[in-house]
Amino acid sequence: MCGIVGYTGKNSALTPVLDGLRRLEYRGYDSAGIALATQVGKPLYVEKQAGKLKNLEEALVKKSDSNSGIGHTRWATHGGPTDTNAHPHLDNEGKLALIHNGIIENYVELRQQLEKLGHKFKSETDTESVVHLLSDARKDNNGDLAAAMRQVCKQLKGSFTLLAIHSDNPSHIVGARRNSPLVVGVGEGENFLASDVAAFIAHTKIALELGQDQVVEITPNSVVVTDLSGQIVKAKEYEISWDVSAAERGGFTHFMLKEIYEQPKAIADTLIGRLNGLNLKLNFKKFEKIVIIACGTAYNAGLVGKYAIEKWAQIPVDVELASEYRYREPSLNKKTLVIAISQSGETMDTLMALRYAKSKGATILSVCNTNGSTIGRESDEVLYTHAGPEIAVASTKAFATQLIAMYLIGLEIGRKLKKLSNNEIKEITEQLTQLPAKVEQILETVEPLRELTRKFKSAESVLFLGRHVGYPTALEGALKLKELAYMHAEGFAGGELKHGPIALIDNGTPVVAIMPTSSGILAEKMASNIQEVKARGAVVIVISDSEFTGADHLIRIPEANQLLQPVLSVVPLQVIAYEMAVARGNDVDQPRNLAKSVTVE
Ligand code: F6R
Repeated sequence: MCGIVGYTGKNSALTPVLDGLRRLEYRGYDSAGIALATQVGKPLYVEKQAGKLKNLEEALVKKSDSNSGIGHTRWATHGGPTDTNAHPHLDNEGKLALIHNGIIENYVELRQQLEKLGHKFKSETDTESVVHLLSDARKDNNGDLAAAMRQVCKQLKGSFTLLAIHSDNPSHIVGARRNSPLVVGVGEGENFLASDVAAFIAHTKIALELGQDQVVEITPNSVVVTDLSGQIVKAKEYEISWDVSAAERGGFTHFMLKEIYEQPKAIADTLIGRLNGLNLKLNFKKFEKIVIIACGTAYNAGLVGKYAIEKWAQIPVDVELASEYRYREPSLNKKTLVIAISQSGETMDTLMALRYAKSKGATILSVCNTNGSTIGRESDEVLYTHAGPEIAVASTKAFATQLIAMYLIGLEIGRKLKKLSNNEIKEITEQLTQLPAKVEQILETVEPLRELTRKFKSAESVLFLGRHVGYPTALEGALKLKELAYMHAEGFAGGELKHGPIALIDNGTPVVAIMPTSSGILAEKMASNIQEVKARGAVVIVISDSEFTGADHLIRIPEANQLLQPVLSVVPLQVIAYEMAVARGNDVDQPRNLAKSVTVE
């Protein structure tokens, strides 16, 4: 939901700002803009364009440059994706520019007040109110932009990351955050501000984490962080553990394909050092139930987690859509462990559900992929997945590692509560260790599946069936296909078919059935479901670990413990979605209408 970059330093700003935007484009890609402080005290150089970043780059032929600037890539909320609504937004003199990620909830009343004071608005955005407010506040504070920003933040409702630059003091960039991400990149003679470390990883690996309601001011040689009362705050410094190559395509046609192929490593990295126990300071004996909160793909990982945790730890587990959770009156208290799963660690729905659960006394364990993210910081404990940066909007390797995190948590609780015997623990850990090689094996044999997928590119709808953990896997397969191929796709529990969905089957409808034999009796039941859909004209692609003659097309995957099977069976589903998107000419890494981090509710 919008990517934000700021640079001030010894070098020209245009290159790091544009490079940063390129790496943040996954966050939003309906328009982009930059502001550069080219001349002291003169209007800023601003260029903004609707559409992808390349439109902005083409418009920048004049290539004005300076040593400091800010840039923005947008996912529209208030006001359509037009040149005018693109960020930065300017004050009436054109000397102050502001970019924003989030939503200003009280922008209507602010705008009315500001218009009465003579401010002229150009866009339909919520952001523009803030730049006018900041302009007045700067005058009230004798040109001190950081003080003005603190004053303005106190007047704002909602969520925001804000960056501002004024041409009177061009080497200063001021930022602020509430409920949206902002990190500082600390360089030598240059400093950066960005929504995500990916924006500046090519320049520095030293980052500072900013807390809630903090304001930061950077110059080429200084970083000052304060709270809203102006008190200096010591920001937590950390070193980014991956390097720039992880945020590049490295010879693959798309980030998504690269990330599918990175899964064996991501799984191995997430398992490393954790099979003999997690270093979590939680007393599992005190919990009477577990609630998993998450959205989208992370929610599907949570559904698999329920099966594993209930089986291995014998604690009841509910899995809840984070966006729904706090709007009813869920039963939770001090004896509830809430597990929040989020790749980005900044999904607003998940964050709000987490805060709600915390306010009711629940203990929060989060599973995040992004170091220093808000969800991680607001949790009692965090289990980081080590998927590395996931750039493609559709989640693949992050899902695989979220599954691994679920298994590790189930194993940990089962072990701590003595619900698993030593033999069971040994069997599970051995099976987990084998997963990277098994995923590798699938990836070596997916070529025929890619060819097969292309045959279905004109299908109206694709159905996915599974039982037990195959059901959430089917949901994940359908979600991937919807978001990438823009096709109607649904995931069903095999047993539910006859209760309605079977009416969707028509002559030639592709049905993908997940049927590992480790599911025992359920595999037999799936075989019957397959016959039922075939009898009604479906073309069935079966994903199984053994020979099965009832399939129109059989995709073989290796055997594994039933609970661990989703890590394997999801791989062909990811490949189907990828290939279908390519065959239909869609933008694989940046599907329409989506953004990677959903930082608005
Ligand atoms: C789908 C996808 C989304 C995310 C969801 C939650 O491919 O990526 O459904 O899983 O928006 O995002 P995080 O995990 O960042 O909270």
